[in-house]
Amino acid sequence: MTTATAQRPSAPEQAAAAAAPLLVLRDVVVAYGAVLGVDHVSLAVGRGQLCGLIGPNGSGKSSLLAAVSRVGKLSGGSLEFDGQDYSAWSAHRVARLGFARSFQTVRLQEDLTVLENVMVGADKTRLSGATVATWLSSLASRGDEAKSRAAALEALDQVGLADMRDRFPTTLSYGTQRRVEIARCLASKPRLLLLDEPTAGMSSAETDEIAALLMRLRAEGLTQILVAHDLSMIHSVTDHVFALNFGKLVAQGRSTDVANDPVVRAAYIGVVETVEEDSDG
Ligand SMILES: Nc1ncnc2c1ncn2[C@@H]1O[C@H](COP(=O)(O)OP(=O)(O)OP(=O)(O)O)[C@@H](O)[C@H]1O
Ligand SMILES: [Mg+2]
Repeated sequence: MTTATAQRPSAPEQAAAAAAPLLVLRDVVVAYGAVLGVDHVSLAVGRGQLCGLIGPNGSGKSSLLAAVSRVGKLSGGSLEFDGQDYSAWSAHRVARLGFARSFQTVRLQEDLTVLENVMVGADKTRLSGATVATWLSSLASRGDEAKSRAAALEALDQVGLADMRDRFPTTLSYGTQRRVEIARCLASKPRLLLLDEPTAGMSSAETDEIAALLMRLRAEGLTQILVAHDLSMIHSVTDHVFALNFGKLVAQGRSTDVANDPVVRAAYIGVVETVEEDSDG
């Protein structure tokens, strides 16, 4: 006999579903000719986790993020988001799954205001390759402008830049431009945020602001992968860290354990200081 009670998942089943990772990579390879930018990487990112992705220059961090978002190439292996294999999907379709990615270098449109730049992020249906003029007119003709504007303002508010909405990017400091980029990601209401060195070149005060923002987003349940060279930031914000070297995953775990891992230390020779564990754990 089938009863409602019998169909309800048991407590262990519910716990397993909650613990199921949001993102799973299996044997991911990114090949540039003979060079393997990413060399058979398998990893899982839990729901709501803020994961760090570290490794020396050229170790494959950006290539991995590009493959995950399907903006870049994927030469082998599989990608799964929320239980669904999306390895063969286009970047455009993947963006609608709820991925947002900030790039290693600032990519704001200089001829658009801060608000318009963030609205580009809010509009998930925009065609890749569409010119800004085409995009703005399509937004207006679809009647989506008010919705995009509201989402963009909310995202600017989240990063503390609502009062900068009418400025043009070139009039802003580098750190502020990077926050606009994060707002552009948030405007699409992502389920997974991929951040490629969002604090590179920032002052320590600006870095602290970004760290606080990422931790607020984590408290709201947003799953994030953060690429950073600043290990003290990685240590202060992440739940779990993946370390790459020559495209291979060489260590993973808590930031203190990964930073002190002999293989990771050897990869970073002369770069890594021993990270002290907090006394309160
Ligand atoms: N478009 C490309 N064509 C050829 N080789 C590439 C390309 N992009 C990356 N590579 C190579 O792939 C490897 C991984 O590069 P990637 O940019 O992913 O590393 P990274 O960890 O992001 O480095 P960084 O810390 O300097 O940003 C490097 O050997 C790099 O030279
Ligand atoms: Mg990179």
